[in-house]
Amino acid sequence: MPDNPVFAAVLAAGKGTRMRSNRAKVLHTICGVPMVNYAISALKPLEPRRTLVVVGHQADEVRSVLPPGVEPVLQKEQKGTGDAVRVALERIEDEEGTLLVVNGDGPLISDETLARLVERHRSAGVGATVLVAELSDPTGLGRVAEDGGVVRIVEERDATEDERCGRLVNLGLYAFELPEIRRALGTIGSENDQGELYLTDALKVIGERSRAVTCFLENLEEANLVNDRAHLAKAEEIVRRRILDAHMRAGVTVRDPASTHIEATVEIGRDTVILPGTFLRGETRIGADCVIGPSTDLLDTTVEDGALVEHSVGRGAVVGANANVGPYAYLRPGTRLGLNTKVGAYCEVKNTTIGARSKVPHLSYVGDAEIGEGTNLGAGTITANYDGKSKHRTEIGDRVFTGINTNLIAPVKIGEDAYLGAGSVVNRDIPAGKLAVGVPARVIRDVPGKRAKDERDGRQTGTEA
Ligand code: UD1
Ligand code: CA
Repeated sequence: MPDNPVFAAVLAAGKGTRMRSNRAKVLHTICGVPMVNYAISALKPLEPRRTLVVVGHQADEVRSVLPPGVEPVLQKEQKGTGDAVRVALERIEDEEGTLLVVNGDGPLISDETLARLVERHRSAGVGATVLVAELSDPTGLGRVAEDGGVVRIVEERDATEDERCGRLVNLGLYAFELPEIRRALGTIGSENDQGELYLTDALKVIGERSRAVTCFLENLEEANLVNDRAHLAKAEEIVRRRILDAHMRAGVTVRDPASTHIEATVEIGRDTVILPGTFLRGETRIGADCVIGPSTDLLDTTVEDGALVEHSVGRGAVVGANANVGPYAYLRPGTRLGLNTKVGAYCEVKNTTIGARSKVPHLSYVGDAEIGEGTNLGAGTITANYDGKSKHRTEIGDRVFTGINTNLIAPVKIGEDAYLGAGSVVNRDIPAGKLAVGVPARVIRDVPGKRAKDERDGRQTGTEA
């Protein structure tokens, strides 16, 4: 048989009743990625000429998670898997080739398995091929029987006692010759327990006309289809371990794989150590030689080489190289920590840039601020960025030193080399190099020893950096 092009149809229109969810089954995530995207990724290496994704239940939401390059097709009413394929076929009416049909709820199916299915289908030169496996627990799946060369699949709910004892199951993956599946779908009815058009009935029709064969799944782990939340947890456990194994093989130390959760989208550099109880999610990027954890949860956060982040939470933050975060720091969106910075215990940082070598070591809230380099905020320094109506910015220059319990009432600017006394409440700008104290803070003199210090540091006194 000549090498026909491959087309793919991913069936993802069903509700997934057994999930008992307000969300369509294929939208439930596994390691951070919607279930439907696993089937689509597995298809990719086969380079299908077109990949049609049949959507229906919560069609807009399902469409919104699909990667570029696939074509959603709307199945208005979910009248069964046969109807779903019929809807997909309307989009490729004039095409010839092989149609690979993949259920959207088989997230563990590998690209190798799909390639083997197509291979087997082509070398057998048949009208249809179905992927099957012999399972010790076939509950809920269609049972496969071959009578005299005709593959017959009967749904559990339609099966006789005898048929139900069979352990050979339909995994919901098929290769069809396009003309055969078109013709067969035109002939089947919906005389079954669910009153649906069953794709499996079309398979039987093809088998009778032009032969259908089975292809056995090699790695039974891939047979974990998701129909309920227990299946979802099982699938997630397998995907989670696969992700961890890949990171470990690439040079990441994972101290306790059992308590480490890394989503499929995360990248980690070599020689980084992930300690127990850590969650790395979304577009998180971790550099090389970092130590992350224990008990750290980072979402969409970038951590550059050599940084330490322990017992902390990050959301949309950037942690610079060799920075030291935690324990118990909360880095919110827009946090940008420079090289060698420190954000210590019980500190919250939001929408703030902290320059190289600056430290926020204890019990601070820093929001909507710009902090220069080499600055130290004393324990309990707080930016009062919100006046009850709007947010205001705080600007703190290089080498500033704030005493404990300093309150900065934004908008306010602190010039470089300024010092703020313990307990001061700063509601007006403080010029460079001045010492201010009190409530409200007032400048009392130059920072003591500033001239001597500048000379030691090789800086010219009084000039801007
Ligand atoms: C189907 C098979 C069964 C097989 C099992 C493997 C049929 C009749 N039965 O059963 O033999 O063992 O898959 O998982 O095909 N879908 C649509 N539109 C519809 C109905 C379903 O797109 O109108 C999609 C669903 O979103 C799902 C897939 O098709 O991704 C399978 O549907 P589901 O209802 O889960 O099929 P099963 O009853 O599990
Ligand atoms: Ca069903």
